[in-house]
Amino acid sequence: MTQSFYITTPIYYVNAEPHLGHAYSTIVCDAAARFHRLLGDEVRFQTGSDEHGDKIAEAAAREGIAPQAYADRVSRMFRDTWPPLNVSHDNFIRTTDPAHIACVRLILQKIYDAGDIYLGKYGGNYCVGCERFLTDKELVEGKCPDHDRPTQYIEEENYFFRMGAYQQALIAHIQEHPDFIRPERYKNEVLSFLKEPLEDLCISRPKTRLTWGIELPFDGRFVTYVWFDALINYLSGLGYPDEPLMAQFWPAAQHLIAKDILKPHGIYWPTMLMSLAQAEGKPRDAYLYQHLNVHGYWKTGQGKMSKSLGNVVAPLDLARVYGADAFRYFLLRDMAFGLDASFSEEALVERYNADLANDLGNLFSRVLNMLFQYRQGVVPAPGEPQADAQELLALAGRVTQAYARQMEGFHFHLALSEIWQLIGEANRFVVKSEPWVLAKDPGQGARLDAVLGALVQVLGMVAVLIQPAMPQTALAMAQHLKLELPELIGLDRLASADLVVPGTALGKPPALFPRIDTAKVKAKAEKAGAKAAQPALKEKKPVAKEAPAPPAQIEYDDFAKVDLRLGTVLAAEKVGGADRLLKLSIDLGEETGPRTVVAGIALHYAPEELVGRQVVVVANLKPVTLKGVESRGMVLAAVGDDKVRVLSPDTLLPPGSKVR
Ligand code: MSP
Repeated sequence: MTQSFYITTPIYYVNAEPHLGHAYSTIVCDAAARFHRLLGDEVRFQTGSDEHGDKIAEAAAREGIAPQAYADRVSRMFRDTWPPLNVSHDNFIRTTDPAHIACVRLILQKIYDAGDIYLGKYGGNYCVGCERFLTDKELVEGKCPDHDRPTQYIEEENYFFRMGAYQQALIAHIQEHPDFIRPERYKNEVLSFLKEPLEDLCISRPKTRLTWGIELPFDGRFVTYVWFDALINYLSGLGYPDEPLMAQFWPAAQHLIAKDILKPHGIYWPTMLMSLAQAEGKPRDAYLYQHLNVHGYWKTGQGKMSKSLGNVVAPLDLARVYGADAFRYFLLRDMAFGLDASFSEEALVERYNADLANDLGNLFSRVLNMLFQYRQGVVPAPGEPQADAQELLALAGRVTQAYARQMEGFHFHLALSEIWQLIGEANRFVVKSEPWVLAKDPGQGARLDAVLGALVQVLGMVAVLIQPAMPQTALAMAQHLKLELPELIGLDRLASADLVVPGTALGKPPALFPRIDTAKVKAKAEKAGAKAAQPALKEKKPVAKEAPAPPAQIEYDDFAKVDLRLGTVLAAEKVGGADRLLKLSIDLGEETGPRTVVAGIALHYAPEELVGRQVVVVANLKPVTLKGVESRGMVLAAVGDDKVRVLSPDTLLPPGSKVR
């Protein structure tokens, strides 16, 4: 059955240019929207700009232009940022759109008529940055802690929304719908706000103080408080109160925000929706959204990103250098949804090289090059079943299901890690099955077909699975594999055996992700870091130190040459005449019995500490003789802070287990 899915980003203030944080929220929504399209759902994805209020009026005044002209310009910057990042929104809403303004006025009137908005008096400490009155408790030394500027005491007549009247109903709804706000930590945060009595919400601003807003329909002396105006974008963007979009998508509404705007979305908005439903004579819960999905904050080296710290990350610059897909992949993979994460260009490059160039890029090119070389590029038909090839395909099926569960729950980093598990296994399958050896033996033709066939099918599945995160790469892979558009394939078809049609002739593969020279990026980052740090380095200048060249990069095949095994230490003793060496007898599960390995760890371990422990051994190292003892292997240890610690698994495994 076709389902509906409506996902929204916050609408961004037009007082700042788009940065990494905005890009993250928007890309997350895009990935969710694309995933639901893959499921075959009817999807609507909305983003936009929030253009009224003091903040915008102030920013426009600073530039000496009218707020509308200012909002037009910055809103355009947001609108222009999304296409190069492959964001596939269906609607870009502006709070200055006449239809939005009419919708806000309609809703205000309905709630007012129903008696949930009243005129009152209010005196308090107002912060222009927050655009709200702060409570005494929130002030730090008379200042707003978020904006580090003094608040103004203001007393004025204003309109209030009876938010407090919905406190108990909201608590009950959250308790009855445990994933109304997710992840759980944010649900708990909202419930803890709600332990205190909920005050009514001041929803107007007198025009004597602010004119840049939507005039209240029932009192022309006031404009609407910017949050009351902005939140309604989620409804006005569907054409509320008109069908058909409302009927189709509102019941399927999910919002996405970062933790900074949890209170307006977790408290103001649901209470507004309850009031509206009641005003229309509907059940109180009728308009409540399905889920509020809340993520953490991206920080850079110096903590929070801000213009004044000069550490704002411009998304389009990164996308230009590394490609939109690599940028999207990094953001989705490196932030555990719900938690904070730190951003650095170096981390992005590391991910790029490891996950994209090495794992995915390498799999794609080696499989298709072999197909080209050994089978003239023709996709083999499934022949005699081969257990290991079947196993790889079975894993792909399991991964598809786990991936879908994780995507549904907004665990993007885990969903991607599922796909990469499959890619890793496919790479290992190449090494183990050695198609280059099979190709030399005419008797192994059927086996070679089965191996290459399974690998090509896995590539087809990967092309579809990565589509929500990396639409361009998915398309490039699909085009090469002569698939339909990945978004048209749909997840349910992945299980079918022959996604890539047997008999199709494929060409030589393009390089998906050419490697990036990390040394160059590091040097660039150090240079930039040194510049940024300069003003702080008054007393002590750091001694310039030549950074050691990073070790040369190796192919996966090089790594796979090292036979790493788990062994249990049966006995340990010092080697006479050498204070650093221990002679270990290690069981590697070999029929030939335990091996003797000499390890240079005597200064760090007493022999008895090691007996019974499992350690990682390089099992195919050429034997050497040290102080008269033949050593057949090497024990791996981590070296740091003058400490040496051997590596051990966190639970015991059979001796001889492969380490990879
Ligand atoms: N205009 C309001 C939202 C109204 S929604 C009805 C607003 N705008 S904002 O421009 O300040 O955007 C805030 C949102 O931008 C955050 O909730 C988050 O989605 C995104 N981010 C801004 N900085 C961020 C980080 N450093 N890290 C992650 N996302 C952040 O609030």
